[in-house]
Amino acid sequence: MGNLKAAITGVQGFVPEYVLTNAELEQMVDTTEEWIVTRTGIKERRILKGEGKGPSDMAALAIAKLLEKTQIQPEEIDLLIFATVTPDMVFPATANVTAYKAGLINAFGFDVNAACSGWLYALDAAKNYIESGAHQKIIVAGFDKMSSIVDYEDRATCVLFGDGGGAVLLEPHAEFGIQDTIMESDGSGWVHLHQKAGGSVLPPSHETVDQKLHYIYQEGSHVFKAAVSQMAKVSKEIMDRNRLSADEIAYLVPHQANLRIIDAVRRNMSLPEEKVMINIHKFGNTTNGTIPLCLWEWEEKLNPGDNLILSAFGGGFTWGAIYLKWAYHR
Ligand code: UT7
Repeated sequence: MGNLKAAITGVQGFVPEYVLTNAELEQMVDTTEEWIVTRTGIKERRILKGEGKGPSDMAALAIAKLLEKTQIQPEEIDLLIFATVTPDMVFPATANVTAYKAGLINAFGFDVNAACSGWLYALDAAKNYIESGAHQKIIVAGFDKMSSIVDYEDRATCVLFGDGGGAVLLEPHAEFGIQDTIMESDGSGWVHLHQKAGGSVLPPSHETVDQKLHYIYQEGSHVFKAAVSQMAKVSKEIMDRNRLSADEIAYLVPHQANLRIIDAVRRNMSLPEEKVMINIHKFGNTTNGTIPLCLWEWEEKLNPGDNLILSAFGGGFTWGAIYLKWAYHR
């Protein structure tokens, strides 16, 4: 297929209506608005309420809007790659359930689990399917219902996370689209950020529930240091190896885990604050949802040829950066 690039040709986000504020969290755990804002940058986050709802429900709503605005029929989609750490069920893949709910009757699909870097890994995988010519219309979704694995009695984690996400359409393009990617991981980092129970090593039992082992376990400051060093490293590396100066970059689109991490990455790239997409104050850390939610919110400001650097760090440890040229104006 020659030198085809994989370009994002549409993006749609979804966040649930319920807003969980710092003031409400102050009533639930021993914390303060001041601590949360100064240590993380988060003011509020969204929570998916209602029985029996999962990431597939949020994704199906977003995909319906994505198809409407890109004027693509559901049956034209070849493949759905779904990044999540909170799948509807352990199996089958949330991609399959979502494809069914969204009417993607000709798509095959699978999930990607790479924690907070999952959506970048999924985008990288989709890029290769497009560049090889194997597929022409791929949806890359990133949604999490983090409230399902957050312990709302643990102040160290419950202030951080929110529910929501976004999906993009990826299509071949002669010029614009993904130009370069760097994907890395270090499995020794798993001990610092994981969910202990619910997998096959420690299946759920009365004991695991009593001991709250099905919630997020995070050694925050260790993860913080690794996130700063690895996200900053790959974001700068992808800039340098593509000979991009700070002036030539339209936006850094970082994973939204902590405003202080984002700021460290930005400074390492010598970018001014206005060139960074930030919505952590409104949505917190939605894990696989953060980067597509940013692209969705900034979509109308973007122009063909704009240089974007996407970067993330997450459990695993996983991290990576993608350099892309935006392909359209909306
Ligand atoms: O997205 C995937 C990857 N995840 C991340 O990138 C998250 C990375 N980590 C972080 O963002 C930060 O480490 C946190 C925001 C989680 C924590 O910030 P920190 O500045 O690293 O704080 P800390 O964990 O070192 O805790 C400092 C103090 C502790 O008190 P003592 O031991 O010094 O008395 C905590 O108990 O802050 C306390 N603390 C809180 N205080 C008020 C922790 N959580 C809270 C809270 N409210 N919610």
